[in-house]
Amino acid sequence: VWTPAAVIEEQVERIRAQVGKEKVICGLSGGVDSAVAALLVHKAVGDQLTCVFVDHGLLRHNEAEQVVETFGGHFRVPLVHVRAQERFLTRLSGVTDPEAKRMIVGEEFIRVFEEEAAGLGDVRFLVQGTLYSDVIESGGGEGGVAAKIKSHHNVGGLPDDMEMELVEPLRLLFKDEVRRVGEELGLPQRMVWRQPFPGPGLAIRIVGDVTLERLEILRAADAILQEEIRRAGLYRDLWQSFAVLPAIRSVGVQGDERTYAYPIVIRAVTSEDAMTADWARIPYDVLETISSRIINEVQGVNRVALDLSSKPPATIEWE
Ligand code: XMP
Repeated sequence: VWTPAAVIEEQVERIRAQVGKEKVICGLSGGVDSAVAALLVHKAVGDQLTCVFVDHGLLRHNEAEQVVETFGGHFRVPLVHVRAQERFLTRLSGVTDPEAKRMIVGEEFIRVFEEEAAGLGDVRFLVQGTLYSDVIESGGGEGGVAAKIKSHHNVGGLPDDMEMELVEPLRLLFKDEVRRVGEELGLPQRMVWRQPFPGPGLAIRIVGDVTLERLEILRAADAILQEEIRRAGLYRDLWQSFAVLPAIRSVGVQGDERTYAYPIVIRAVTSEDAMTADWARIPYDVLETISSRIINEVQGVNRVALDLSSKPPATIEWE
């Protein structure tokens, strides 16, 4: 029978045999795949592993802190936390094209990761959270896009000249199996069950120019949305739920004052595999709480709208 414990035992042995006494590096993204892969390798070879968390500053509220506390703190995995928000924002400055944003975040991610890897000396092995579904997905159609998309999220797009050998302990696992292994390894529930999050992060949920000001507005609105979705017990039933910041402003009134501020769009979908999706029927009272909290608590927002589009013809993300 398949058990998480058996997978862990088998992978730990395999990793030890592959790695020997050499040094290993792993990029953490905040997602469950890289987290579980890292924990397996750490269990196998301990402090021969160094994790590098390239914090591009485009994660959701508290996610970076969670990665640092969980790995550096709780699991005591040697962790390099690279605070690179300024670098990413500088490179994104003035960029409005969605694909250009993706390319910039992907490229910069690799650059930062390479710099850190070089600083660690002679590292022979690179851990990747490649899943079975990534292995069987090849070329053509949406699968190809998904594989390409994954590449910068999972640090899979690292150039060949890094000349590191890959360690891929999740290669035979499906997503739900990865989650079960994660639970068995003691990964916090929040990380085990995190909804999918795109590699370029909030950069592609801010339509138009990504500035620090707009990033902070979106992050604050998104944190409220997440909190209320969790409080209502809906988090795990939704494929994804998040806030989007469009590049328009509208007129509102607050006290005696006219405001001219951004709207926030609520995007929540159900889906099996992200290829198709339906907009989630979130109860009105939950929507009401989300809306009034965002408008009252987030400076710079005076309106909340709900996205009622299915995929296709819309996509899940706005960019
Ligand atoms: P769309 O918007 O195409 O999204 O319906 C389908 C799924 O893919 C995720 N997504 C991305 N993931 N890098 C990623 O790692 C990306 O550039 C990217 N774009 C979209 C999206 O969140 C959804 O789960």
